[in-house]
Amino acid sequence: MPSPLILSVEEFSVMVVSLIICMDPSGLVGNGDKLPWDVSEDMQWFIKNTRHKAIVMGRKTFQGIGRALPGRLNIMLTNSGKSGIEGVEDFNDLRAAIRSANARGYTEVVIAGGPELYRYALDLNLVDKIYLTTLKQRYEGDTYFKHETLMTLSDRLGSGDFTMVSGWTLESERTTSLARYRVFTRVRFPGSKLVLDSATKRHY
Ligand SMILES: NC(=O)c1ccc[n+]([C@@H]2O[C@H](COP(=O)([O-])OP(=O)(O)OC[C@H]3O[C@@H](n4cnc5c(N)ncnc54)[C@H](OP(=O)(O)O)[C@@H]3O)[C@@H](O)[C@H]2O)c1
Repeated sequence: MPSPLILSVEEFSVMVVSLIICMDPSGLVGNGDKLPWDVSEDMQWFIKNTRHKAIVMGRKTFQGIGRALPGRLNIMLTNSGKSGIEGVEDFNDLRAAIRSANARGYTEVVIAGGPELYRYALDLNLVDKIYLTTLKQRYEGDTYFKHETLMTLSDRLGSGDFTMVSGWTLESERTTSLARYRVFTRVRFPGSKLVLDSATKRHY
């Protein structure tokens, strides 16, 4: 079992763990190992919000892309070996990946899918920030992500106060003819400890 890492809020305050996701109105996110859509404005949103940051993706998602994304620290999570993709680092532990990025001076780690990894990060309470794209049109595909947190945020299409509902605050919102782009944040309580080990959840 990996040794526990306990960091004070002061030590870890420069690190934000984010999640970026694009879904259609039914929670569809994938088709095979690809996205079900080709929406360039969402791709621009993805590039803008991940550039110069560390990105972490599951093996299937990375294999679907097939290459490292330029201008970012590329990390692939896998329990089954090496990616073999040039410029992509492999980890079998998300917390170790976050620590590694933090130690190299990255102040934001963006978890970029797919659903298996999204669920893991949300259930461990690791996520501070969510970049959520909700497409207006429905698409065809085979992979859905219907995590309670995401569906709660996604369903509340107005720009009301999320804090009372779910602990999340709507930080920004932009709507186009194709999609709604929203950023949600959650604030850690001062004086709390961040605990990262395999048995313990993150505490706020
Ligand atoms: N719409 C979006 O925003 C979006 C974003 C990203 C991906 N996607 C889509 O999502 C689909 C793929 O998602 P998916 O859930 O099937 O696969 P995935 O999360 O991309 O990859 C799953 C694999 O990643 C590794 N993995 C995941 N969590 C891990 C953990 N906590 N520790 C160690 N390894 C871990 C495992 O690899 P090993 O089997 O090698 O152990 C696992 O089999 C694709 O269709 C893709 O296009 C959509």
